[in-house]
Amino acid sequence: MESEQISLSEASMSEIDRELAKYPPDRRQSALLAALRIAQDEHGWLRPELIEHVADIIRVPAIRAHEVASFYSMYDLEPVGRHKIEVCTNISCMLRGCDKIVAHLKDVLGVDINQTTEDGRFTLKEVECLAACAGAPAMQVGHDYYEELTAEKVDRILEGLQ
Ligand code: FES
Repeated sequence: MESEQISLSEASMSEIDRELAKYPPDRRQSALLAALRIAQDEHGWLRPELIEHVADIIRVPAIRAHEVASFYSMYDLEPVGRHKIEVCTNISCMLRGCDKIVAHLKDVLGVDINQTTEDGRFTLKEVECLAACAGAPAMQVGHDYYEELTAEKVDRILEGLQ
């Protein structure tokens, strides 16, 4: 079923076409994760209608796209702030003091995990291993990685994000 009032830009559609071209025609569903990511990058988060629109494009059942979107933490099913801060709390980061980084971020931003600051600037999230263990503790903000975090380094990073 085609969704109302939800669309993707030409640039996003071209990107999805490039993803689809990587797979045989009978394996279109392999591009689903990438297509959801592209849709999220354009719209900021994945509202149900957008997930269904992506399902239409990839030609998979809507329920399949909803299952994928709700399984992976990289997809946001609710609005997020301009900057999504994802702090790793997995083992290497835990051993290297990520609890202090999380506490500092909560304190400075005045929010808890999975909350957005009142000005809509930041959303704070906790994630599993970011594959940056050698630089633990680590966090990701948008598409950027930050490693060997300290409270002071976090402050400098936040200052640079409008
Ligand atoms: S455990 Fe934190 S990046 Fe791997």
